[in-house]
Amino acid sequence: MFDIQHYLAGKRKRVEDALDTLMLSAGGDFADHVAAMRYSLFIGGKRVRPILCLAAGACISPDPALEESLLPVACALECIHTYSLIHDDLPAMDDDDLRRGHPTNHKKFGEAEAILAGDGLLTFAFDLLSDPRFTGLADSARLQITHTIARAAGSLGMVGGQALDMDGEGREMSFKELKTIHSSKTGALITASVLSGAIGAGGTPAQLDALQTYGDTIGLAFQIVDDLLDVTSTTEELGKTAGSDAEHDKATYPAFFGVEKTRKMAEQASQAAIEVLSSFPDSADPLRALSRYIVERTK
Ligand code: IPE
Ligand code: IPE
Ligand code: MG
Ligand code: MG
Ligand code: MG
Repeated sequence: MFDIQHYLAGKRKRVEDALDTLMLSAGGDFADHVAAMRYSLFIGGKRVRPILCLAAGACISPDPALEESLLPVACALECIHTYSLIHDDLPAMDDDDLRRGHPTNHKKFGEAEAILAGDGLLTFAFDLLSDPRFTGLADSARLQITHTIARAAGSLGMVGGQALDMDGEGREMSFKELKTIHSSKTGALITASVLSGAIGAGGTPAQLDALQTYGDTIGLAFQIVDDLLDVTSTTEELGKTAGSDAEHDKATYPAFFGVEKTRKMAEQASQAAIEVLSSFPDSADPLRALSRYIVERTK
């Protein structure tokens, strides 16, 4: 039986060590700005997106050198994700005080510094992706990965989804709209994480197609479970304020379908994602286990 907790602990360590090495170091002319970026990066986080990138790469290619080449890509994904959390928590957005078990970036450093920490992390991600000294990947793979991530993080993906999420506060919306918000604000970057690992490993068009479906399915499930935990878990367990969605009158899956049906929908999505991988060999076991982890997680 594949031990997902052991796997996650090992990959988290690899990602965090790489982040610490690659991220701008503390001190120097921009010390306060760098400290604000490093604060949000290193106060916690499950590191799901970078781990999905590494797992998708290993699913396609057994080359032991691949993980090393993919680590800067994995770190870029975590930088983009962390920026999205800093901005998501700002008073003008979800106005949250707690993130990853600690005060949110703007609570600690002030709003202006928090906005700039987000800007810095987003921009640094593309520095990591585009500089050939960081990744050992071929130029063509690097370009394709950079474009995939840019698309997913921007207005046709995460940023667009966040705009729809804000616009949807306090009003009725259709299920179709809700699904679009979730797939774009959260699903898009998760799919891009999977695809970037697979592209770096030289995946065939058919493999990339299957992994795109896998990513879209677990990406939507990830946000459905995030909505569920906001209702069913505690602030202490989550490390962020439980009940934040109801407080802001957000459209969520539990608000739409109730807790039980939402849980079933998440489980079905996890199962569907595993079925998409049915023709993949044992090297896809981490991806299968990650699909289960995403719906079974408690934080
Ligand atoms: C929270 O993401 C925000 C969403 C996109 C749902 P995570 O649940 O991955 O947060 P961390 O990185 O573990 O803190
Ligand atoms: C956030 O969704 C999606 C992002 C792109 C950051 P939420 O607003 O539900 O995330 P949490 O619950 O604050 O982590
Ligand atoms: Mg939000
Ligand atoms: Mg939020
Ligand atoms: Mg949430």
